[in-house]
Amino acid sequence: MESVRRGACVTAVIWVFFASVNLVVAADPKVLMPRVPADQIEEAKTWQNPYPSTPENIEIGEKIFHGKAFCVTCHGKNGKGLGNIPGLRGKLPRNFTDKAWQATREDGELFWILKNGSPGTDMASFVPLVLTEDEAWFVVLYVRSFGHGGN
Ligand code: HEC
Repeated sequence: MESVRRGACVTAVIWVFFASVNLVVAADPKVLMPRVPADQIEEAKTWQNPYPSTPENIEIGEKIFHGKAFCVTCHGKNGKGLGNIPGLRGKLPRNFTDKAWQATREDGELFWILKNGSPGTDMASFVPLVLTEDEAWFVVLYVRSFGHGGN
């Protein structure tokens, strides 16, 4: 009896372990689905960031992310996305450290989102009301830096 109970306990521990690993590692497939509408995505993918990913340029993006564009209020200091914002529409504001998500997006798609927002969600349009196009490209560099393990 004792060993059965211990077996069940071990199974439960293993289950909880894998369930939590799953939460961290495997992104919700819905998060990976493209956000740019099908009729615009091919063009958006051709847009290239005019700025190289240097520490100085990433820092400019970092200041904007934490400052005037207030990205940090939804995306969090660590870029993992805050899940506790009441009434927020859209899938959890992304985990920018998720390598699968990073790999599935081109820079131009992220830039498109900054221009147009993610339709039907609380990810709003930031260009041109809050950011210039140049500033948006610096923020894209910063968003990318979460995927390199640095920020
Ligand atoms: C009001 C909260 C909020 C703010 C402020 C905000 N975001 Fe978002 N963001 C979201 C939500 C919610 C989503 C998920 C939308 C979805 O499910 O498509 C998102 C998604 C994104 C995505 C992912 C789109 C994709 O292709 O998967 C990027 C990139 C992004 N935000 C960048 C930014 C940047 C950069 C800023 C600051 C300029 C910012 N966000 C400000 C809420 C916010």
